[in-house]
Amino acid sequence: MEEDNNTKLAKIAQSLIPIGKGILAADESTSTITKRFELIGVPSTEETRRQYRQLLFTTPEIEKYISGVIMYDETIRQKSDNGESFVSILQNKGIIPGIKVDGGTTPLRVGSSELLTIGLEGLPERLASYYELGARFAKWRAVFTISDEFPTSECIEKNSQALALYAIQSQQAGLVPIVEPEVMMEGSHSQERCYEVTNQVLLQVFKDLEVQKVSYPGMLLKPNMIVPGKSAAMAINPYQTAQKTRALLETVVPKEVPGIVFLSGGMTPVQATENLNAMNKERALWQLSFSYGRALQEPVLKAWNGSRGNESTAQEMFLERARLNSLAVVGKYDSKMETMS
Ligand code: 13P
Repeated sequence: MEEDNNTKLAKIAQSLIPIGKGILAADESTSTITKRFELIGVPSTEETRRQYRQLLFTTPEIEKYISGVIMYDETIRQKSDNGESFVSILQNKGIIPGIKVDGGTTPLRVGSSELLTIGLEGLPERLASYYELGARFAKWRAVFTISDEFPTSECIEKNSQALALYAIQSQQAGLVPIVEPEVMMEGSHSQERCYEVTNQVLLQVFKDLEVQKVSYPGMLLKPNMIVPGKSAAMAINPYQTAQKTRALLETVVPKEVPGIVFLSGGMTPVQATENLNAMNKERALWQLSFSYGRALQEPVLKAWNGSRGNESTAQEMFLERARLNSLAVVGKYDSKMETMS
């Protein structure tokens, strides 16, 4: 019985990382998508959010490059103009529906600026209902900020324990957990400091996943790349990013984990693609792919601008970004291919 479930999970995990495909993170919470809409002057209502997600999910041929889509609670229950559920639209394209199951963040303690991701209460029931709705994988994001004193070991330990509990509960419910410990790019820290903190975080996460007996073949890791802070003085090239990121992953990620799907974390769409491409110039122990939110959607949002008349242009932008990232998964992207951004 146990074995059957693990075999099923491993199959789902594999089907999320076929060569040349990656995941679309379209699971922005209502407050996050509202901020993204504000940037383009579009009011955020249930209907505008539905129209925008419909545009993404109905993009012709997107299934050539996208294996799975992470949705938000509101989105997984929504339908297209013609009444077909988003879940069914995705399934009919062979795209696996996924769901964000964390409940966002709260201060780690009163007055602290560090954050703890919450949402374990009632999680087994929610996971069961998402499975019923058609989800086959789940995502939980923990965030760590870098400063001279952060992250504290308390922040790392508490978030890591929650990630591991979410992961095992997801597997028990038949959902592949995407474990996302995000070391944020905000700050002026060096690439070395990002390496050091990410190393500390990932070591703790795998220790806790081990304690909870999470089945590695039935999970995916969604980490940040090893890059300097956004306001750091020194810029680095994709080769340097790839080298450090791969070096770290090789020391901390068990080889039984089938895939690593990076977050874009505030890199520009082109940077995110270039870095992934550099990472895939040589074969790695795991499939190295993408689970991008902003890096896939930024140009799409701009092109859409809230207008139905712009939908097909916006879909072309989405298809092109997905295609370029698909090439990056096999190390065959070149920035000269950029024509739209
Ligand atoms: P970004 O690629 O924009 O970092 O989003 C990925 C994600 O899923 C954040 O939780």
